[in-house]
Amino acid sequence: MKDPRPFYSEFAWAYDLLIDRPVQKECAAIAAWLVERGVVPGSTLVDSGCGTGRYAIELSRRGYRVRGIDRSADLIEEAMRCAGTRSPQLSFEVGDILTLPRSNDDGVICRGVLNDVIEEDDRQSAFAAFARVLRTGGVLILDVREWEATAERKDREPLFRKRVDTDRGRLTFMSVTELDPPTRRLLVRETHTLEADGRERSWDYEFVMRRSGRDGSSGRGCAAVVSCDTPASRHTTQSRRDTQRTPLN
Ligand SMILES: C[S@@+](CC[C@H](N)C(=O)[O-])C[C@H]1O[C@@H](n2cnc3c(N)ncnc32)[C@H](O)[C@@H]1O
Repeated sequence: MKDPRPFYSEFAWAYDLLIDRPVQKECAAIAAWLVERGVVPGSTLVDSGCGTGRYAIELSRRGYRVRGIDRSADLIEEAMRCAGTRSPQLSFEVGDILTLPRSNDDGVICRGVLNDVIEEDDRQSAFAAFARVLRTGGVLILDVREWEATAERKDREPLFRKRVDTDRGRLTFMSVTELDPPTRRLLVRETHTLEADGRERSWDYEFVMRRSGRDGSSGRGCAAVVSCDTPASRHTTQSRRDTQRTPLN
């Protein structure tokens, strides 16, 4: 399905150029959290909302068998292109993480995705889906951005702008964020402008994002690691044996 957000469709090819992440360092931390809970290399992981596949690719390089799922067909195409013929232990498919079918995987990674999931019912569906996917004793690693830190930062710097020279031309990405404190939502206006062959074209898009409450953690965002200790049929979002919350840089 064509995602209406240009970031996830027309400009899927530029996603990693515009959003820089310390993927290797983060995957080292993710792998350490998994190993501490018995999910060792060779285990199966589902990268829910895998985007361009950069986390899935790095975790498969570390020996995990990873299935990346994303609802954007363009991002999945980009993930497959980046993965090349890397490994039969790595696969990508288009799918909705809210309706993942039952399976018996050792871990679920959900990075940078839940702030896109606005409605409470949809968040509940996402957690129910993660519970269906995980085996008993499986591990869920997720992150969310927090309202307080985001509000402070976006109040100060509502405008984000990045320009990159690409083989398709000069690309400028701009986003302006407006805060809505009562609902803890952000109204984001994004523009991609591509200059190529003496021509300039722009794509505008507006959407809403949600932020979470701080609940005792600090920093710009937070990652949680949850081990599920009940059979999948009885999983609820409360069924957890241990939960670790770690501030992100
Ligand atoms: C901010 S990107 C993060 C991508 C990747 N996890 C990363 O960190 O590079 C959020 C991703 O979640 C995906 N996504 C959002 N809602 C989804 C859903 N319901 N089902 C599948 N993918 C979803 C988007 O298509 C997008 O690729």
